[in-house]
Amino acid sequence: MILAIGSNGRSAVQKSSGKDWDRIWVGANIATMVAGAEPYGNIKNAALAVKGDRIAWIGPADEGSREATAHGIPIHDAQGLWLTPGLIDCHTHLVYGGHRVEEFEKRLCGVSYEDIARAGGGIQSTVQATRAATHRELAASATVRARQIMAEGVTTIEVKSGYGLELAAERRLLEVARELATELPVSIKKTFLGLHALPREFSTDRQGFVDQVCGPWLESLVAANLVDAVDAFCENIAFTVQETEQLLRAAKQLGLPAHAHVGQLSDMGGAELAAKWGALSADHLEYVSAAAARELAAAGTVAVLLPTAYFTLRQTTPPPVPMLRDAGVAMAIATDSNPGSSPCTSILLALNMACTLFGLTPEEALSGATRNAARALGAAADIGTLEVGKRADLALWRIERPAELCYGLGANPCAGVVYGGTPRRAS
Ligand code: NIG
Ligand code: FE
Repeated sequence: MILAIGSNGRSAVQKSSGKDWDRIWVGANIATMVAGAEPYGNIKNAALAVKGDRIAWIGPADEGSREATAHGIPIHDAQGLWLTPGLIDCHTHLVYGGHRVEEFEKRLCGVSYEDIARAGGGIQSTVQATRAATHRELAASATVRARQIMAEGVTTIEVKSGYGLELAAERRLLEVARELATELPVSIKKTFLGLHALPREFSTDRQGFVDQVCGPWLESLVAANLVDAVDAFCENIAFTVQETEQLLRAAKQLGLPAHAHVGQLSDMGGAELAAKWGALSADHLEYVSAAAARELAAAGTVAVLLPTAYFTLRQTTPPPVPMLRDAGVAMAIATDSNPGSSPCTSILLALNMACTLFGLTPEEALSGATRNAARALGAAADIGTLEVGKRADLALWRIERPAELCYGLGANPCAGVVYGGTPRRAS
């Protein structure tokens, strides 16, 4: 009988013996990211054993080695590497056609993101390119981006639709998203972002479009098992609070969780709405009131902050992080990978910018791509921290301390990943 580290971060006597393990990593420094224990949930010179796709045991390195040797269990010597939960990118728009580099040029000549959107560019131009792309083309470009994200220790990616905006095209995006998980060692969460922009063919019939999305489209995609959650872009250039609420209500009736893009460019009351409907996450939140922050905290809705989008759009009003922190809102960090506001495939860059631009501590930022990102996906029971019984999704890092994951600009210290208990190369 040996010690295992329980969910409260403290040691608990548990019946786990080496004979129940498939393999073990020893000589690692482990950042469990369990809240309330040591900073980052640190355990120095530790070992972690797996059984199947689950974490079976965490404890001191010498004890793990002894037990594994006694039972002939394969031992991986981590040689002082740091081990964290596999990172989670909980907000991406990874599947799309084309790019928006000409829009980037326009913005640098003084045209705003909103003006480009109102003139029919922005999301609409990606919708055109996406509708014109074949399934194969979409899969190929999304696979490249997924691999780039995974190279930095990411083992779970949330992928939104929203660049199809007609049923068949939305279905294709979600199918491509689903296929990524069969082609690559990564878990994918599929989000139907039905209310992203009003497609041209509905330009004189907003309500007709919202009714389609919230009714037959949602039902059909759910029936095809393509929807883990819904999402809407609640903004003055996109959808109103009432329209967003129609989707959140429809999702609730089907027992589906929700995310919502709110407060990116203005405060329309979207955060209050997300809290009211118990959304898993409210994303962006540059513009959010103190009252709404308290409502998010009370609802357990995670604030997903997207610093690379803020950076790309050269915004000047960051999310009110001290206010969110004081209100007790859990904060997650994601890449928002998309062709317009965040052509980014680096979660580590997002972590750096969460610190440098938004003022998060490195521990808060790393929690935002592990424990809180798991919460934002409704998957906290399964991933996001290193605890016995959780999925053995791990990232190994060539670093001296966890804050280094937020410190570098462009370095990638990932030395490898373990996906569901199986070691993989990082990229
Ligand atoms: O999260 N805000 C809405 N959606 C994306 C951007 C979409 C685009 O510009 O293509 C975002 O920033
Ligand atoms: Fe987004």
